[in-house]
Amino acid sequence: MPVFDTIILGAGAAGLFCAAQAGQRGKRVLVLERSAKPGKKILISGGGRCNFTNIHAGPAHYLSANPHFAKSALSRYTARDFIDLIEKHGIAWHEKTLGQLFCDNSAKQVVAMLMDECARAAEFGGDVQLLCDQDITDAARQDGAFVITANGQVHRAHSLVIATGGPSIPKMGATGFAYDLARQFGLKIIEPRPALVPLTLGGEDVLFRDLSGVSATVDARSGKTTFREAALFTHKGLSGPSILQVSSYWKHGEPITIDFLPDRPEGWLLEAKRETPRSTVKAKLKDVLSDRLATTLSGRLGIETELGNVSDKALRAAEAQLARWTFHPNGSEGFAKAEVTAGGIDTKELSSKTMEARKVPGLYVIGEAADVTGWLGGYNFQWAWSSGWAAAQAV
Ligand code: FDA
Repeated sequence: MPVFDTIILGAGAAGLFCAAQAGQRGKRVLVLERSAKPGKKILISGGGRCNFTNIHAGPAHYLSANPHFAKSALSRYTARDFIDLIEKHGIAWHEKTLGQLFCDNSAKQVVAMLMDECARAAEFGGDVQLLCDQDITDAARQDGAFVITANGQVHRAHSLVIATGGPSIPKMGATGFAYDLARQFGLKIIEPRPALVPLTLGGEDVLFRDLSGVSATVDARSGKTTFREAALFTHKGLSGPSILQVSSYWKHGEPITIDFLPDRPEGWLLEAKRETPRSTVKAKLKDVLSDRLATTLSGRLGIETELGNVSDKALRAAEAQLARWTFHPNGSEGFAKAEVTAGGIDTKELSSKTMEARKVPGLYVIGEAADVTGWLGGYNFQWAWSSGWAAAQAV
């Protein structure tokens, strides 16, 4: 039976990158993947163009029970390092917005690059073998080695890397396998929950579903965290980048607050009353928001008359409501629609330098399987690259 230096479970972003880096350190690596092909989430990411990193990526852009955990890996393998690799492979890219970098052409180029980097292991005396369509039925630690049974075949290695991601988008083959394995090895799990996910509206808020398709740039807030990006009304509730971002911070029962006019200074409606007393709140809203949204909001505010006939107090109250419009989501669209999973294998169990489990020498956890969740905008892939790189230096 061949003995590998390391077996990596999962050929997603983190697993493939870790395999390539370890292979280029001269390691013999076996990657076992459940799906028929590697990198499926990479292929559909960023609308097929893969938002492969964010130039601003830093620890503040990640959620984790331990906010310091991601610091080490992110600082040792940075967005710049990944951009250099992308450029070395001649992949053209552009910044779309807010530091988000996308391929000009196709996400397929990123998967091809990772496969190419795996193949380059041979130049360094290493080797990366990838087996797809694998059904992993057993993982055990015997005499200091890891023994993995997949498709009835037994594989042995000195170390094992869990890179099977989280359960978001199960129809793409995503599983909670990482957690089962972690529990088996005695590692704690922080309750996984859907993140970067659309929120659903019920009760009084249901009226807003009629605005399905309407979007606006807003400040969306959950607790103390605010994001200024587009919000989109859907037939189920709220989506769009600002809502996906706050969804990662949102907890059941809590409200989401939206400032529909984040650029308007305090007192803008009173100013409008002085300058254009014959205008209406609806007309003023239409200056900045779509007709349908302006009509719904002004209807809910219940101020139909000309501004000149509305008291200053009522206008101040309207302004305050527009700046802190409170929605009470009754849930989210769940793992089926969540771009990532928040929570996961507790980082207290892992070394932030190497991703190795403290209790189980030789066992590593990288990527989304760990309790590190990035904001929308390339941060999650950067975590996959950084954590994969960190583990690859140690396996
Ligand atoms: P990933 O999910 O990539 O890989 C896990 C691998 O393990 C998969 O290949 C899976 O099949 C395999 N696996 C699962 N169970 C297994 C088992 N039992 N045995 C063997 N293999 C198993 N992020 C970002 O930064 N920019 C973006 O543009 C996007 N866009 C995006 C779009 C959509 C639609 C989704 C769903 C997600 C994104 N993301 C994103 C998030 C990003 O895709 C995600 O954070 C990374 O892929 C996580 O990388 P991992 O390698 O940890 O998991």
